Amino acid sequence: MPMPSNIRLDTARPDDAEAILAVHRAAIRGTAVGFYAPEIIDAWAPLPVRPEHVDALALRVENGIEEAVVARRRGAGIVGFGSFVPGRRELRAVYVRPDYGRMGIGAAMLAALELRARKYGLKELVMDASLNAEAFYLRHGFVTERTGEHLLSGGLRMACLRMRKPLAGR
Ligand SMILES: CC(C)(COP(=O)(O)OP(=O)(O)OC[C@H]1O[C@@H](n2cnc3c(N)ncnc32)[C@H](O)[C@@H]1OP(=O)(O)O)[C@@H](O)C(=O)NCCC(=O)NCCS
Repeated sequence: MPMPSNIRLDTARPDDAEAILAVHRAAIRGTAVGFYAPEIIDAWAPLPVRPEHVDALALRVENGIEEAVVARRRGAGIVGFGSFVPGRRELRAVYVRPDYGRMGIGAAMLAALELRARKYGLKELVMDASLNAEAFYLRHGFVTERTGEHLLSGGLRMACLRMRKPLAGR
Protein backbone atom coordinates (compact mmCIF):
# COMPACT_ATOMS: atom_id res chain seq x y z
CA MET A 1 0.00 0.00 0.00
CA PRO A 2 1.44 3.46 -0.84
CA MET A 3 1.91 5.69 2.17
CA PRO A 4 -0.83 8.33 2.78
CA SER A 5 -0.01 11.57 0.99
CA ASN A 6 -0.23 13.70 4.15
CA ILE A 7 2.69 11.83 5.72
CA ARG A 8 6.26 12.64 4.82
CA LEU A 9 9.55 11.00 5.66
CA ASP A 10 12.34 13.09 7.08
CA THR A 11 15.79 12.65 8.52
CA ALA A 12 15.40 12.52 12.30
CA ARG A 13 16.78 15.43 14.30
CA PRO A 14 18.19 15.17 17.81
CA ASP A 15 15.22 17.13 19.16
CA ASP A 16 12.87 14.44 17.78
CA ALA A 17 14.18 11.97 20.36
CA GLU A 18 11.37 12.37 22.89
CA ALA A 19 8.62 11.94 20.25
CA ILE A 20 10.50 8.97 18.77
CA LEU A 21 10.58 7.21 22.12
CA ALA A 22 6.85 7.90 22.61
CA VAL A 23 6.19 6.15 19.27
CA HIS A 24 8.52 3.30 20.32
CA ARG A 25 6.54 2.72 23.52
CA ALA A 26 3.14 3.00 21.79
CA ALA A 27 4.15 0.63 18.95
CA ILE A 28 5.35 -2.07 21.34
CA ARG A 29 2.45 -1.73 23.74
CA GLY A 30 -0.08 -1.71 20.90
CA THR A 31 1.38 -4.27 18.51
CA ALA A 32 3.77 -6.62 20.31
CA VAL A 33 1.79 -7.13 23.45
CA GLY A 34 0.31 -10.51 22.49
CA PHE A 35 3.75 -11.97 21.70
CA TYR A 36 5.63 -11.38 24.96
CA ALA A 37 5.02 -11.68 28.70
CA PRO A 38 4.03 -8.43 30.47
CA GLU A 39 7.41 -8.14 32.25
CA ILE A 40 9.22 -8.26 28.88
CA ILE A 41 6.93 -5.56 27.46
CA ASP A 42 7.60 -3.39 30.54
CA ALA A 43 11.38 -3.79 30.22
CA TRP A 44 11.36 -3.23 26.43
CA ALA A 45 8.99 -0.25 26.55
CA PRO A 46 9.46 1.30 30.00
CA LEU A 47 7.12 4.12 30.96
CA PRO A 48 7.40 6.94 31.69
CA VAL A 49 10.10 7.70 29.14
CA ARG A 50 13.17 8.70 31.14
CA PRO A 51 15.12 11.88 30.30
CA GLU A 52 18.41 9.95 30.16
CA HIS A 53 16.98 7.70 27.43
CA VAL A 54 15.89 10.77 25.45
CA ASP A 55 19.34 12.34 25.85
CA ALA A 56 21.13 9.13 24.85
CA LEU A 57 19.06 8.77 21.66
CA ALA A 58 19.49 12.46 20.79
CA LEU A 59 23.25 12.03 21.11
CA ARG A 60 23.32 8.90 18.92
CA VAL A 61 21.34 10.74 16.23
CA GLU A 62 23.47 13.87 16.53
CA ASN A 63 26.80 12.10 16.18
CA GLY A 64 25.62 9.76 13.42
CA ILE A 65 26.04 6.51 15.35
CA GLU A 66 22.38 5.87 14.56
CA GLU A 67 20.88 7.03 11.25
CA ALA A 68 17.18 7.58 11.75
CA VAL A 69 14.18 8.54 9.64
CA VAL A 70 10.84 9.71 10.97
CA ALA A 71 7.35 9.73 9.46
CA ARG A 72 5.62 13.03 10.23
CA ARG A 73 1.97 13.77 9.83
CA ARG A 74 0.89 17.37 9.84
CA GLY A 75 -0.93 18.06 13.09
CA ALA A 76 -0.08 14.66 14.56
CA GLY A 77 3.69 14.92 14.87
CA ILE A 78 5.85 11.83 14.52
CA VAL A 79 3.87 8.65 13.83
CA GLY A 80 6.74 6.32 12.93
CA PHE A 81 10.49 6.02 12.95
CA GLY A 82 13.20 3.66 11.85
CA SER A 83 16.96 3.55 12.20
CA PHE A 84 20.12 1.64 11.42
CA VAL A 85 23.63 1.64 12.81
CA PRO A 86 26.03 1.95 9.86
CA GLY A 87 29.06 0.82 11.83
CA ARG A 88 27.39 -2.49 12.65
CA ARG A 89 25.38 -2.83 9.39
CA GLU A 90 22.49 -3.33 11.74
CA LEU A 91 18.87 -2.39 11.18
CA ARG A 92 17.98 -1.22 14.66
CA ALA A 93 14.32 -0.31 14.47
CA VAL A 94 11.15 0.19 12.51
CA TYR A 95 8.26 1.32 14.69
CA VAL A 96 4.86 2.70 13.72
CA ARG A 97 2.19 4.08 16.03
CA PRO A 98 -0.55 1.42 16.12
CA ASP A 99 -3.26 3.84 14.99
CA TYR A 100 -1.19 4.40 11.82
CA GLY A 101 -0.44 0.72 11.21
CA ARG A 102 -0.92 -1.14 7.92
CA MET A 103 -0.84 2.08 5.88
CA GLY A 104 2.51 1.43 4.29
CA ILE A 105 4.48 3.70 6.65
CA GLY A 106 6.74 0.92 7.95
CA ALA A 107 7.47 -0.25 4.40
CA ALA A 108 8.28 3.29 3.22
CA MET A 109 10.65 3.89 6.14
CA LEU A 110 12.37 0.55 5.59
CA ALA A 111 12.90 1.40 1.89
CA ALA A 112 14.38 4.79 2.87
CA LEU A 113 16.74 3.16 5.37
CA GLU A 114 17.88 0.56 2.83
CA LEU A 115 18.64 3.34 0.34
CA ARG A 116 20.76 5.12 2.93
CA ALA A 117 22.50 1.90 3.92
CA ARG A 118 23.46 1.34 0.27
CA LYS A 119 24.85 4.88 0.15
CA TYR A 120 27.09 3.89 3.06
CA GLY A 121 28.29 1.04 0.89
CA LEU A 122 26.64 -1.63 3.02
CA LYS A 123 26.02 -4.90 1.21
CA GLU A 124 23.55 -6.27 3.73
CA LEU A 125 21.57 -5.45 6.83
CA VAL A 126 21.28 -7.72 9.84
CA MET A 127 18.92 -7.39 12.75
CA ASP A 128 17.37 -8.92 15.83
CA ALA A 129 13.68 -8.81 14.93
CA SER A 130 10.94 -9.10 17.48
CA LEU A 131 8.61 -12.08 17.01
CA ASN A 132 5.63 -9.88 16.17
CA ALA A 133 7.53 -8.19 13.32
CA GLU A 134 8.80 -11.29 11.50
CA ALA A 135 5.98 -11.26 8.92
CA PHE A 136 6.70 -7.61 8.09
CA TYR A 137 10.41 -8.25 7.49
CA LEU A 138 9.83 -11.50 5.56
CA ARG A 139 7.44 -9.56 3.32
CA HIS A 140 10.29 -7.14 2.60
CA GLY A 141 13.03 -9.57 1.64
CA PHE A 142 14.64 -10.44 4.96
CA VAL A 143 15.35 -14.08 5.73
CA THR A 144 15.26 -15.62 9.19
CA GLU A 145 18.60 -17.21 10.10
CA ARG A 146 17.96 -18.44 13.60
CA THR A 147 16.17 -17.75 16.83
CA GLY A 148 18.04 -15.77 19.44
CA GLU A 149 17.71 -13.63 22.53
CA HIS A 150 18.05 -9.94 23.03
CA LEU A 151 19.34 -8.70 26.38
CA LEU A 152 17.16 -5.93 27.79
CA SER A 153 18.38 -3.36 30.27
CA GLY A 154 17.61 -4.82 33.68
CA GLY A 155 18.85 -8.23 32.60
CA LEU A 156 15.71 -9.81 31.12
CA ARG A 157 16.09 -11.63 27.81
CA MET A 158 13.51 -11.40 25.06
CA ALA A 159 13.16 -13.97 22.28
CA CYS A 160 14.00 -12.58 18.87
CA LEU A 161 14.90 -13.69 15.37
CA ARG A 162 18.22 -13.05 13.72
CA MET A 163 17.29 -11.81 10.24
CA ARG A 164 19.36 -10.68 7.29
CA LYS A 165 18.79 -8.98 3.97
CA PRO A 166 21.30 -8.60 1.15
CA LEU A 167 21.11 -5.13 -0.39
CA ALA A 168 20.99 -4.80 -4.15
CA GLY A 169 24.12 -3.38 -5.79
CA ARG A 170 25.28 0.26 -6.35
C1 LIG B 1 6.24 -4.04 12.26
C2 LIG B 1 5.70 -2.63 11.98
C3 LIG B 1 6.86 -1.64 11.94
C4 LIG B 1 4.99 -2.62 10.61
O1 LIG B 1 4.65 -1.26 10.27
P1 LIG B 1 3.40 -0.92 9.35
O2 LIG B 1 3.49 0.52 8.95
O3 LIG B 1 2.14 -1.35 10.03
O4 LIG B 1 3.66 -1.86 8.09
P2 LIG B 1 3.17 -1.64 6.58
O5 LIG B 1 1.80 -1.03 6.58
O6 LIG B 1 4.22 -0.90 5.83
O7 LIG B 1 3.12 -3.17 6.09
C5 LIG B 1 3.63 -3.57 4.86
C6 LIG B 1 3.40 -5.06 4.71
O8 LIG B 1 4.14 -5.79 5.70
C7 LIG B 1 3.36 -6.92 6.13
N1 LIG B 1 2.95 -6.75 7.53
C8 LIG B 1 3.04 -5.63 8.28
N2 LIG B 1 2.60 -5.86 9.54
C9 LIG B 1 2.24 -7.15 9.58
C10 LIG B 1 1.71 -8.00 10.58
N3 LIG B 1 1.48 -7.56 11.84
N4 LIG B 1 1.42 -9.28 10.28
C11 LIG B 1 1.61 -9.75 9.03
N5 LIG B 1 2.13 -8.99 8.01
C12 LIG B 1 2.45 -7.72 8.29
C13 LIG B 1 2.13 -6.96 5.23
O9 LIG B 1 2.45 -7.71 4.09
C14 LIG B 1 1.96 -5.47 4.89
O10 LIG B 1 1.25 -5.27 3.70
P3 LIG B 1 -0.38 -5.25 3.72
O11 LIG B 1 -0.79 -4.34 4.84
O12 LIG B 1 -0.72 -4.73 2.37
O13 LIG B 1 -0.79 -6.66 3.97
C15 LIG B 1 4.68 -2.20 13.05
O14 LIG B 1 3.67 -3.20 13.16
C16 LIG B 1 5.25 -1.98 14.43
O15 LIG B 1 5.64 -0.87 14.77
N6 LIG B 1 5.29 -3.03 15.29
C17 LIG B 1 5.74 -2.91 16.69
C18 LIG B 1 7.17 -2.53 16.84
C19 LIG B 1 8.13 -3.60 16.43
O16 LIG B 1 8.11 -4.70 16.96
N7 LIG B 1 9.00 -3.26 15.49
C20 LIG B 1 10.03 -4.14 15.04
C21 LIG B 1 11.17 -4.17 16.01
S1 LIG B 1 12.41 -5.30 15.41
